[in-house]
Amino acid sequence: MARILITSAIPYINGIKHLGNLVGSQLPADLYARFCRAQGHEVMFICATDEHGTPAELAAAKAGKPVEDYCAEMHQVQKDLAAGFRLSFDHFGRSSSQRNHKLTQHFAGKLAENGLIEEVSEKQVFSIDDNRFLPDRYITGTCPNCGYTAARGDQCENCTKQLDPTDLIDARSSISGSKNLEVRETKHLYLKQRALRDRLEAWIDSKTDWPILTTSIAKKWLNDGDGLQDRGITRDLHWGVPVKKGDADWPGMEGKVFYVWFDAPIEYIACTAEWADAHAKPESAWERWWRTDKGASDVRYVQFMGKDNVPFHTLSFPATIMGSGEPWKLVDYIKSFNYLNYDGGQFSTSQGRGVFMDQALSILPADYWRWWLLSHAPESSDSEFTWENFQVSVNKDLADVLGNLVSRVTKFATSKFGATIPPGGEFGPMEAALIADLGSRISAYADLMHAMEVRKAAAELRAIWVIGNEYLQASAPWTVVKTDPNRAEAIVRLALNLIRVYAILSRPFIPTAAEAMMSALNSDDWTWPDDISVAMRKLPEGHAFSVPENLFRKITDEERLDWQTRFSGVRT
Ligand code: MF3
Ligand code: ZN
Repeated sequence: MARILITSAIPYINGIKHLGNLVGSQLPADLYARFCRAQGHEVMFICATDEHGTPAELAAAKAGKPVEDYCAEMHQVQKDLAAGFRLSFDHFGRSSSQRNHKLTQHFAGKLAENGLIEEVSEKQVFSIDDNRFLPDRYITGTCPNCGYTAARGDQCENCTKQLDPTDLIDARSSISGSKNLEVRETKHLYLKQRALRDRLEAWIDSKTDWPILTTSIAKKWLNDGDGLQDRGITRDLHWGVPVKKGDADWPGMEGKVFYVWFDAPIEYIACTAEWADAHAKPESAWERWWRTDKGASDVRYVQFMGKDNVPFHTLSFPATIMGSGEPWKLVDYIKSFNYLNYDGGQFSTSQGRGVFMDQALSILPADYWRWWLLSHAPESSDSEFTWENFQVSVNKDLADVLGNLVSRVTKFATSKFGATIPPGGEFGPMEAALIADLGSRISAYADLMHAMEVRKAAAELRAIWVIGNEYLQASAPWTVVKTDPNRAEAIVRLALNLIRVYAILSRPFIPTAAEAMMSALNSDDWTWPDDISVAMRKLPEGHAFSVPENLFRKITDEERLDWQTRFSGVRT
């Protein structure tokens, strides 16, 4: 048994996330967390809302609410939706927590002690028409790196380059559109990432097992152009973590806050402390996950995120950790994702284009979405959601293959032999062949899940469902029962055991259906079927079971067309 720490990139507080956001971090992280638990490992699975920064301030202003109230409400909304999607976080925290305030200030203090913070008097874009300093992401312009015309001041969405707003060509305020901008003097703190460049590079080079998507982005920002830049870690805003050096004031920094990207990843740690607080546990309970001097050296730490988050997790956050000089746990493996597109274009939060988490759950239960999204995860390249494809996957994989097997077997068994596992007959060569095939496929499936090969794992699970159907097709208990009822009993006994094994294997993808299958089989034994021969004989003769409610329904053509129209335009 190992200890595995899993974090998902923490979603911004402003607004409900779309399915593209979901499949880029929280959902695959949940898949992995559930798999690790199923394998008997001790898991700490952490997520939170990312609450600071201007987007939160502006969204609150738009909603006519104090930013604290807005964030508290939206946190609850996101928490409920996460539960609706069956995301099994051990804790869903808040980057605005006191724990994160303290820890962020602590890290800044340590970095300063270690000579890694520079105070810079700099020129900052001030919007005269908006009467405020413009934070980076509220300045739009042309990317100096790739020429994309809608680049934001903090990062170009097109080429992922981290930017400074003054790098932008033809800059304008994204709040008012005004180009009436001037540059004013203000003092800020910089993290001297360049001083850590060699350590960061050696560390990244040591991660030979990381996915190419992760390391290529990291190497690009280490080596391209001028290489790794020092990063401004403070902002002229009201909402955020006040700039302090540990517990002490920071002269000259009054009224300023830390940059949201400085405090957000620290929330991974703070959130684990929030978890301890919520369960009235001592400090040691969270420190054993994060402090290598307090037990965390045998923890495996895995992060999940979209590709735009990779520079912050391979360079900026590790720079904070390394620079602190303290024994904090560094990430062991970063699983990153490309983008999911929507029906011929992009998902867009600002334009409300695509399906958002609340809308998805109002149409169909979580399992339908989880299955489609995970089996089409944008791993090796961007992928696309279309309603046709969604309909086909749900109707074929879930309804025809898995759902049909479960209902056919349980109904047939009940009508012929009553609602208990029938005792007749013996497993013969067909059963032996199926069990052997299952054994090798289950170990391939476990290997893929362990490697976080999400699509391939889904394909293997589907293949495991399919061989069960093929076995039933070939063994044909509904025919055999007329001439050889004992033989039919043996087939049914195997098939009922198979459903329980399917529940265990499928639970990380489709937890609700899996739990319905397990409870129909009147069992609560989720032990991973390492020994398949034993697992396929687990339910003893005479063990009672029931016919579950229909697990999956089909999507009709009318529904598909209706949803396609309903979600084509702007969210109201
Ligand atoms: N809120 C960011 C996003 O959605 C992710 C922050 S991840 C963290 O892109 F590491 F900073 F926490
Ligand atoms: Zn660019």
